[in-house]
Amino acid sequence: MITLKSSHEIELMRRAGKITAAARALAGEMVRPGVTTQEIDSEVERFIRKEGAVPSFLHYQGYPASACISVNDEVIHGIPGKRVLKEGDIVSVDVGAYIGGFHGDCAATFACGAISPEAQNLIDVTRQSFFEGIQYAKEGKRLFDISAAIQTYVESHGYSIVREYVGHGVGAQMHEAPEIPNYGHPGRGARLLRGMTLAIEPMVNAGGADSYQMSDGWTVRTADGKNAAHYENTILITDGEPEILTAPAI
Ligand code: MF3
Ligand code: CO
Repeated sequence: MITLKSSHEIELMRRAGKITAAARALAGEMVRPGVTTQEIDSEVERFIRKEGAVPSFLHYQGYPASACISVNDEVIHGIPGKRVLKEGDIVSVDVGAYIGGFHGDCAATFACGAISPEAQNLIDVTRQSFFEGIQYAKEGKRLFDISAAIQTYVESHGYSIVREYVGHGVGAQMHEAPEIPNYGHPGRGARLLRGMTLAIEPMVNAGGADSYQMSDGWTVRTADGKNAAHYENTILITDGEPEILTAPAI
């Protein structure tokens, strides 16, 4: 069942979303050569708690940190640690914050110092695919209208959609119905209604679509070792333009 949020619940989700987006921005500002991923994670946790919220990811199914930080060929769910970021890395940061009974969830991929034009293009296409998708995030459209728009845009740039991981409803639970693949057929899937709150999150590989989970039980990497990027916001479906709850978007 896809939950519809009341105007009061939406107000609470705006608050959770703003904190989550600010944590993402803070993480992005910290991405530079010489910084460790655990230093970024610590600051994300400190910021979320300072705002009176709780990191959504910490202890979720045993996850040991507040942010997922995935570097280069790591697609998602990278565990922060002693890894030192270096010039040319691309760094995906995914964060969630829980306050007032609701979650915000968002992600973006950041450049560490100067990066190659190819890496920058992957980041740009991944981000833009989210905005292509949400052109269809409107009452009366179908869920897979969003999915199809993301897929078409990404594949037209020669990149691959990761299929094993998907976007999702978000609210009182971090993962609610529906699952939102980043591929699919327009005109199919659930009919969208105002009050739905959705995490739309394209995960895009520069090379092939295949990925695998590492032995740490979390980190997902591309099978071919090529780069991957991720971009996510929590949005609200309305009868007009969707509202980005993890605002400001980066
Ligand atoms: N942000 C991720 C998602 O969108 C969840 C991270 S998994 C966790 O589904 F374990 F790190 F929480
Ligand atoms: Co998510």
